Amino acid sequence: MSQKVAAISGGAKNIGKGITLRLLSENWNVAVIDIDKKSLDKLENSEKLLKFHGDVSIEKDVKIFYENVKEKFGRLDLIVNNAAIGGFRSFLELTVTEWKKVIDVNLTGYFLMSRFGTPLMLENPGKGVIVNISSTRAIMSEPGNEAYSASKAGILGLTHALANSLGPNIRVNAISPGWILHENETIAEKEHQQHLVGRAGKISDITELVLFLADENKSGFITGANIVVDGGMTRKMIYI
Ligand SMILES: NC(=O)c1ccc[n+]([C@@H]2O[C@H](COP(=O)([O-])OP(=O)(O)OC[C@H]3O[C@@H](n4cnc5c(N)ncnc54)[C@H](O)[C@@H]3O)[C@@H](O)[C@H]2O)c1
Repeated sequence: MSQKVAAISGGAKNIGKGITLRLLSENWNVAVIDIDKKSLDKLENSEKLLKFHGDVSIEKDVKIFYENVKEKFGRLDLIVNNAAIGGFRSFLELTVTEWKKVIDVNLTGYFLMSRFGTPLMLENPGKGVIVNISSTRAIMSEPGNEAYSASKAGILGLTHALANSLGPNIRVNAISPGWILHENETIAEKEHQQHLVGRAGKISDITELVLFLADENKSGFITGANIVVDGGMTRKMIYI
């Protein structure tokens, strides 16, 4: 029986929830930090699941979260940085407060989760994996996407920097999803068909890759990478 432990930010909804449930199904112990208490409460109660209500952009919350992880599980093998906020805002209306909020959650949150989680990883079991969920918006944009795109591009920089700082014990990779449908979300057929694979993404498209990256036997030679999972959209040239 695997006694491995994963910490997942934003693990109570949509992609993060998918990762939480998939890891639990593989017999991992999972600790979730999420700011949405209602969604957190809706997750199953299990001895293998630690639910922590907190904000990844607040240093104290992240430190207390890991104290809880250490107390309950005593080790840490995987950190999945997933919690993020989005939102379009016309650039000429974007306030400094709004800009900072997005950077605080999406980029500083990933830093805090990595900074205060790796000591436990290095202590027990002495090695591990970090997976940072970025976005294809790190490398392409629409108008009004400045804060989000900048935060997601920052995550790619953070990823290769951490891979250098934490190797060989800890591998650090990014996943850049394209359009991933939320739970119960439906879209028009033409929206599916615009993708080179003929469909938009499913939550399982991301969860399976997280499992692959967490498995030393399958992905042990991959670190510092950014894996784009977008049905080919960033390879499709569009002029009109
Ligand atoms: N869905 C997509 O199409 C898509 C595409 C590209 C990238 N992504 C990325 O995938 C990740 C998950 O996306 P999603 O669509 O599931 O998003 P979502 O908004 O449905 O879920 C995000 C989760 O993070 C939590 N969260 C938000 N702010 C937090 C904070 N300060 N502290 C703790 N938890 C917080 C939310 O409560 C929620 O549970 C994000 O990093 C997102 O940028 C998603």
